[in-house]
Parts: sequence; structure tokens; C-alpha cells
Amino acid sequence: MSETKDFNKVALNWDDKPRRVELAAAVAEGIRQAVPLSETMDALDFGCGTGLVTFNLLTALRQVLAVDSAEQMLEVTREKAAAAGLADRIETCLSDHQFPTHLSRRFDMIYSSMVLHHIATLEPMIQAMVDHLAPGGYLALADLDREDGHFHDDPTGVFHHGIDRQWLMATFQELGLIEVTARTVHTIVKQRQGEEQYYTVFLVTGKRS
Ligand SMILES: C[S@@+](CC[C@H](N)C(=O)[O-])C[C@H]1O[C@@H](n2cnc3c(N)ncnc32)[C@H](O)[C@@H]1O
Repeated sequence: MSETKDFNKVALNWDDKPRRVELAAAVAEGIRQAVPLSETMDALDFGCGTGLVTFNLLTALRQVLAVDSAEQMLEVTREKAAAAGLADRIETCLSDHQFPTHLSRRFDMIYSSMVLHHIATLEPMIQAMVDHLAPGGYLALADLDREDGHFHDDPTGVFHHGIDRQWLMATFQELGLIEVTARTVHTIVKQRQGEEQYYTVFLVTGKRS
């Protein structure tokens, strides 16, 4: 098992890699296809990073609470929101590596991209997300499918080599979510040992009844 990674150190340059920007746009497009978004919806982005997914969705929602355990990621998110004139649509919340269960609010959508594989014990985290959905609210989780262990150049903070989407769908159903679906939203191509390796990214969605 791996120690926790300090994402503060990479926050300032996070958006420099086009593959991250492309992936976030693809995840956001998948969410748009799976979830009927509206400007009445309040959402939570768990492990928001610099808000790459959120900035693709923000104008289709009322407000987003952007949660991350790295303060520097949140700082970049706030700066981008201010520069885009969207600061009134986004709030930030520093978490302690757990889902922020002190929140008394419930959300019309909770989404997350490329975070699950950084979380050692997933079931309590997903349970907390479900508990914080408003009735009729959606959970939308994107991550790598199970991979060969070579996706990350630096394995620090990587607790899972991708996530089994069938397991995630079953977990959603066990926790009472309905209309559970999975789709492939993107494929990341990396050079590994002189060859192209393909890493697919799924989006699993479900609805609280
Ligand atoms: C791979 S980045 C993805 C960032 C963003 N979702 C995106 O798609 O660009 C993972 C993010 O999750 C955050 N993170 C990792 N573990 C976390 C945890 N237990 N609680 C909250 N945030 C976490 C990191 O600080 C980092 O910003």
C-alpha cells in the first residue's frame, strides 16, 4: 500500500498537461449525457483538483461546492473562478481526506473524477456520498478501469490500479441507488516500454430515489 500523495506540490502546474484538460472535458460530457443537469442544481465535486471538470459544468448548475484535501488545488480553483467571473457559483471546502460529513446540506449531484484510486477504503466514502444526496440526486464517479499498474509514473498515493466498474455498479445498487449505468468516457494513451498503452476511463452514475 502507498502513502498519501501531497497534491499541493503539483497544483500550480496541474492544468499544463493537455491530457488532463481533455480527460476532464470528456468526463464532464459523460456527466451531461447521463444526468439531466439544470440551473436549479447544487453539486459537490469531490477531489476537485483545480476544478477542471467543474469548470465544464458550472454554467449548467446553480452552484458547486469544490472539495479537496489539498489547499493549493482549492486556491487555484478560486483564482480560476474569479478570473472567469464565476466566483459566485463556486465555493471551496478543504477536507481531511474524508468526505466532509459535517455538511448539513444535501446535493442534487455529487461527482468525482480520478480520485477513487487515491482512496484506500472506498465503501465508507461512497456511503457518505450517497448519504449526502438529496432525494432524486445523482452520484457520478469517474476513474480508470482496472489497469496493469503502470499508469502512474509516480505510484505515491495510488491505492488501487484502477477500479472495477462492475464492482462500483454493484456497490451503488447495494447502497440503494437506482438507474445505475456505466459508460466509457475517454481513453488515455501513454507510452509504456516503447509501446502505446491504452487506459480507459469509466463513468458510473446512479440516482437516489
Ligand atoms: C488525480 S487528481 C484529480 C483532480 C480533478 N478531479 C481532475 O479531474 O482534474 C486527484 C485529486 O483528488 C484529491 N484527493 C485525493 N485524495 C483525496 C481525499 N481523500 N479527499 C479529498 N481529496 C482527495 C487530490 O488532492 C487531487 O486534487
